[in-house]
Amino acid sequence: MEASPCSVISSLAICVMVLVAAAASSASAQVGVNQSSIALISELNITRDDFPSDFYIGVGTAATQTEGAAEEEGGGPSVWDHRAKMLPGSIPNSDKFPFAIDGYKRYKEDIKIIKDLGVNGYRFSISWSRILPQGSLRGGINQRGVDHYNSLINELKRNGIEPFVTIYHFDMPQALQVKYGGYLNSKFVQDFQDYSDLCFKLFGDRVKHWFTINEPSSLAVYGYEIGIAPPGRCSLPEGQCGLGAPPPGTCIVPAGPCFGGNSSTEPYIAAHNLILAHAAVVKLYREKYQEEQKGEVGIVLAATYFAPFSKSQEDKAAAKRLFDFTLGWFMEPLVFGDYPRSMRDLVKERLPTFSAEEKSLLSGSLGNFVGINYYSSAGAKHRPPPPTEKLRHSFDSWAEATAIPDVSGVSNSNWPQGLQKLMNYVKNKYQRPQVYISENGYTNTRNDSRSLHERLYDPHRASYIARHLYRLNKAMKNGANVKGYFYWALFDDVEWGLGFSLQYGLYYIDFGNNYKRYPKLSARWFRDFNNKNY
Ligand code: NOJ
Repeated sequence: MEASPCSVISSLAICVMVLVAAAASSASAQVGVNQSSIALISELNITRDDFPSDFYIGVGTAATQTEGAAEEEGGGPSVWDHRAKMLPGSIPNSDKFPFAIDGYKRYKEDIKIIKDLGVNGYRFSISWSRILPQGSLRGGINQRGVDHYNSLINELKRNGIEPFVTIYHFDMPQALQVKYGGYLNSKFVQDFQDYSDLCFKLFGDRVKHWFTINEPSSLAVYGYEIGIAPPGRCSLPEGQCGLGAPPPGTCIVPAGPCFGGNSSTEPYIAAHNLILAHAAVVKLYREKYQEEQKGEVGIVLAATYFAPFSKSQEDKAAAKRLFDFTLGWFMEPLVFGDYPRSMRDLVKERLPTFSAEEKSLLSGSLGNFVGINYYSSAGAKHRPPPPTEKLRHSFDSWAEATAIPDVSGVSNSNWPQGLQKLMNYVKNKYQRPQVYISENGYTNTRNDSRSLHERLYDPHRASYIARHLYRLNKAMKNGANVKGYFYWALFDDVEWGLGFSLQYGLYYIDFGNNYKRYPKLSARWFRDFNNKNY
């Protein structure tokens, strides 16, 4: 199947597209799609010059997905390293997980690839437990880990590539998980603040763009509602669907296994502590570093554009609530100081509350920008919580994310117009913040029976990027304050609980040939785009 399927670690709506895409995709249909993909790119006539010269166009990765070697040279394990070891059956090809794509050792070679793509920004993450193996300052700093990131940053700068650094990308040090249960515990806030402080101190003379936390909604939902990511906490009966249900028969990812937990309360507690942690780090950066380092800091949020499934008032209200329960869950506290009204009304006493002091800290603490991870759009249907099922976060919004309604004659959740609409929504709803598209990417399922030539032939990916850049550009002309776009991902790398079974990369990795990186057609197209070769 070549159309974008479900992502375990991204917004729920991405999963919905599987249902639509699977039906649309067949071997013979692909030929037509390929030809029209290429024709469409030139028809769009979008070029690098349509964006300002100080606009960043980059590529992204994250430590766990690329580095491997987590426990080498003094590093400590993260919760993902622990899960791959303790629950090998939960990750396809988990034997490969500890090596990822060998990025820790190959970063110099990889920077050449990034340079060759003609991009001016690279988004990567620092592995917390590589520089603080015990998670906290008291456990000591691993100098070899620090040396590694210094060298990586210096090499990027030498090559004229601006580092965009994610401080925390899903890889909680296992030591802190064991010590106090990770971010279910408010002690997390102090440790995250100390770790961020260390990053600013060590690297802030050269790093001017910081993302604090990547996709807190994914951390809360996948780790604490449906248990498919560490720490695997949930309270769903065995066999219950995690993502994609109901109706029966459309389950995409089964839940669990659950290692204790409460799917109706813990996702909200986890998110609450993550929000407070982000605000604390923004305050720290503002007060201690910003004047001297002159950088900027923000958070990365997963976002889906929700279009009402029908013209009914009920579906319109459902779309509004889905926005509230996803993007608004984090944006409203960080911009206005509290959770969206609909969340407070529907989740009631299960939703933690902010004290007056916290509200005033939170209000205006988004930072200098918001990073938006946009992959797809979804339709929104009114849906009361199923009466026979236990309460859980996904049912609380009284809304179902489904295939987008037939807007343009094509029912397809991979909908570039959605990005334009989302940018407009963010601009109007949240005081026109500065935005980076911190992720946008196209995935296909790995298919080992394909020839190398077939694996590298991905016109859909090139077309996906061109169409999203085109729509983003339109949104900018309409006033959206967007400063950069990062394609996800540079490489076919570890897709968390799905192992190597999903491929987002511009580059294919040949594991049988010492992790050799091969550019796909999309990489060649992207390089031409960035180098203005049209
Ligand atoms: C969001 C996550 O930040 C990233 O790590 C993941 O690979 C992509 N989405 C695709 O699912």
